[in-house]
Amino acid sequence: MDAELLLAAALDVPRARLLTLDDVPPEAAARFAGWVDQRVSRVPLQHLTGTAPFRHLELAVGPGVFVPRPETELIAGWVLDRIAGLAAPTVVDLGAGSGAIALSVANEHPGARVVAVERDPGAIEWTRHNAAGRVAAGDTPVEVLAGDMTDPGLLTDLDGTVDVVVSNPPYVPDDARLPPEVADHDPPLALWGGPDGLDVVRGMLVTAARLLRPGGWLGIEHADLQGSALPALVRAQRRWTDVADHPDLAGRPRYTTARPAGHHPAA
Ligand SMILES: C[S@@+](CC[C@H](N)C(=O)[O-])C[C@H]1O[C@@H](n2cnc3c(N)ncnc32)[C@H](O)[C@@H]1O
Repeated sequence: MDAELLLAAALDVPRARLLTLDDVPPEAAARFAGWVDQRVSRVPLQHLTGTAPFRHLELAVGPGVFVPRPETELIAGWVLDRIAGLAAPTVVDLGAGSGAIALSVANEHPGARVVAVERDPGAIEWTRHNAAGRVAAGDTPVEVLAGDMTDPGLLTDLDGTVDVVVSNPPYVPDDARLPPEVADHDPPLALWGGPDGLDVVRGMLVTAARLLRPGGWLGIEHADLQGSALPALVRAQRRWTDVADHPDLAGRPRYTTARPAGHHPAA
């Protein structure tokens, strides 16, 4: 599969076109051979092709930004389900990286106000680049903000007004062993989350509780081994209700959702 995708990228044709291909020009063959060598040394496929598919989008990716994963498409879909029927909802994506979640929400719910927060100065260049590309393609602009999701001063103007806070935060426990594609190529700030992987989440929960409106929703992606620990952490704060965990398409625990405790208008 990787070889086919690299050959298609080297030829600048869709993968299906390979079936009817008679010839590979020398320049494309040389490009392909170079990429195969890099892939063999565990450079991620997406860094070689320069793009990653995510829902309806093709996002630019490369060194300095986390490559969006297919399983994250589910929590983006969950956000869209939560705001379906709201004409102008506000959605905040904490730790936006390539912009995968934020830009998908803007793409699939054009009336939404979407704010994408990113702390890593290298990664936010990719957020901005992809956001500009989506505007050029006609999507609603996403607001890209340099900031720390654990900062008590973050987005205070939105306190109590946000419909959905969503995050795919760094959640890898410090002692985890990762494949070279991830450990050597995804940015450290996108991965590591302290001894149990939940350090950034702890700070982010405070921010989310402050930002959400009564009846709003929080969604947090997590590692498959955190399907009990993350809901337990959220419940222990005693400021959340309707805490639930959701599996990905492979049946592995993948994201936790909750609502601020207190009065819920029907939503
Ligand atoms: C696992 S990546 C997810 C990126 C993107 N949302 C996605 O799903 O593909 C986590 C992102 O959070 C950013 N990040 C890490 N700590 C942060 C913090 N304290 N505040 C804001 N962003 C942070 C990282 O730089 C990285 O881009």
